[in-house]
Amino acid sequence: MTMSTLTKMTAPPSSAYKIVDVPEAYAEVIKRHGIPGTFVSSSEQESPWVPFGPNAAIRHLLFDTRHNIFSNILWMRSAGVIGTHKHRGTVVMVCLEGSARYLEYDWVAGPGSFIYETPGLVHTLVSDNPDGVKLFGWLQGPLEFYDDKGNFVETIDVWWFINHYESYCREHGIPINKQLYI
Ligand SMILES: [Fe+2]
Repeated sequence: MTMSTLTKMTAPPSSAYKIVDVPEAYAEVIKRHGIPGTFVSSSEQESPWVPFGPNAAIRHLLFDTRHNIFSNILWMRSAGVIGTHKHRGTVVMVCLEGSARYLEYDWVAGPGSFIYETPGLVHTLVSDNPDGVKLFGWLQGPLEFYDDKGNFVETIDVWWFINHYESYCREHGIPINKQLYI
């Protein structure tokens, strides 16, 4: 982008601190068929850390059963390994804290790092950091997990993630948060 296009830029158009009504030709259709957005605060009452193996936990944020999409924060509490897995869909991740890498690649993700994973990738997530890692993830499609001999173990998808969240809530008397389901 050149300086001249920068100086011509007019958006964002306002500094007005107010809610503004905007024209919408299909407001009535959106009202009937639109799906509201969602919000989950950082409160553990709204979504608890659910153990994922002995060294990790998952904080579930969103389940979309139409598209097999699930979003969450994966927390490895200290250095450790998440098993080898194969993707059948796409994943977007951002590292929030700590650091992690895949044994198959030569980079290390730290706070602010962006990771994009595509169908067919097979890799093994590790953290060498004594403080572990927190990774925000937006995942679409199933993941297949394999043992250290390459034998298939389990497929995890939106149904697995919903069951993971709801089983823990039931066992601990935590109300199911409808905001997680879109
Ligand atoms: Fe992955």
